[in-house]
Amino acid sequence: MKKLTAIVIGAGGRGRIYTSIMKDLEGKFELVGIAEPVEKSVEYELSLFPDVPKENIYDTWEKILDRPKFADFAIIATQDHMHTEPALKAIELGYDILIEKPIAPTPEECKKITMAAKEKGVKVLVCHVLRYAPKFMKLKEIIESGKIGEVMSIQALESVGNRHMAHSFVRGAWGNSDTSSPMILAKCCHDTDIIQWLMGKKCTRVHSFGSLSFFNKAHQPEGAPSRCTEECPHREECIYDIKKMYIENQYMGSAWFKDAAAGFAGATNEQVWEALQKNNYGTCIYEANNNVVDHQVVNMEFEGGSTATLTMTAFTGDASGRCMKIFGTKGTLEIRGDAKFIYYTKFGQRIEGQWGDRVSEEIDIARKEDANGIGLQSGHGGGDAGIMQTLYEYFTDTYTGNAATTAEVSYLNHLISFGAEESRVTGTVIDIDKYSQAL
Ligand SMILES: NC(=O)c1ccc[n+]([C@@H]2O[C@H](COP(=O)([O-])OP(=O)(O)OC[C@H]3O[C@@H](n4cnc5c(N)ncnc54)[C@H](O)[C@@H]3O)[C@@H](O)[C@H]2O)c1
Repeated sequence: MKKLTAIVIGAGGRGRIYTSIMKDLEGKFELVGIAEPVEKSVEYELSLFPDVPKENIYDTWEKILDRPKFADFAIIATQDHMHTEPALKAIELGYDILIEKPIAPTPEECKKITMAAKEKGVKVLVCHVLRYAPKFMKLKEIIESGKIGEVMSIQALESVGNRHMAHSFVRGAWGNSDTSSPMILAKCCHDTDIIQWLMGKKCTRVHSFGSLSFFNKAHQPEGAPSRCTEECPHREECIYDIKKMYIENQYMGSAWFKDAAAGFAGATNEQVWEALQKNNYGTCIYEANNNVVDHQVVNMEFEGGSTATLTMTAFTGDASGRCMKIFGTKGTLEIRGDAKFIYYTKFGQRIEGQWGDRVSEEIDIARKEDANGIGLQSGHGGGDAGIMQTLYEYFTDTYTGNAATTAEVSYLNHLISFGAEESRVTGTVIDIDKYSQAL
């Protein structure tokens, strides 16, 4: 079996997820180079792959890409605004690339990367990890089988969760679109990707509303200090109190929260608390220099007139997950947050003792996971491991599926998010073709 060699550019939260999965699939992958300025994050990578030669370890992407290509592919997992330059340079050097989503924060940059990869003939896979999760793979398989007829409508809900919102999109790296991306791109390019993929048709028009209504100064209770590290009279009742979120583990994703707040993996409470004194994670949730929306709706029209709606909202409980209902001409499919089933309703099939059509089958997706060897324990419902398995096949020219999230596929889905943001800001309906031609 061919072993693919990789370099990781940005070994932060996402970078180390992919290299950890590479470690689990060690027969297929080997890490041979690292570009990462945080020493502790480099140490973490070396704990996984101790044989990375010292001369292949750099503190910036510029340095690792300043020498000829020395691995099969590059993982680009730096922050959103730091994707374009390393991606273009890696393409120029001939690397195949695994790039974190969004491809880039602007449509122009996304187009540039997509075109550059096409011209150079390198493969780019974008981390729309949900597509590789057993639940969504099964949804696609059922739709393609014709079981629910033609898909006419999709209703999708991205329940961000109030404390996930607070951590990532208020205090965290994606709280301010001037330094990251608009919310509908940062959080929901996964959703626009899945919707267009399941619909199986191109999106033609989008329309969107949304605003930042709650996580702002107007909602700051009287007497609350600017920083949550200081004494606050509201600490007891405030669910966004940093001690609760980062020290007392009152959130199920505490380990991930802590790593991000400290800036490296495996930080102790003391190290997290020290970091909170200085960085933005230590601010009052109502005074965090954030500007991205906390709720948004998107209406989409597809070729042939099918339609979809997407609601993104911060105002859900922790880890509520994505919900989706797919309406076909012969039946419906539904997923409810993290439930391990797909609920299928066949039209015209009366269930004894019930009025009208009811859920006629609960499709257990666990079997599918076992068959693929993709456990739900990996992040994004198995999607994080799933994308690395697909990457191996795609980069070794053995991939036989048609679901790979290449740059070209991903660019089309990013256009829905960019279009939605344009619509939200300008109050207009966006024609996707015209929008893309004007870029
Ligand atoms: N696919 C998903 O579901 C998903 C989920 C979360 C985040 N993301 C995306 O993944 C990307 C990374 O997010 P993250 O949470 O890992 O962020 P992060 O901040 O934890 O990681 C970024 C890393 O880049 C490093 N870095 C900074 N400057 C560098 C330089 N000059 N050269 C090389 N490395 C440098 C940082 O030290 C850090 O370790 C973002 O684009 C984000 O939007 C994707």
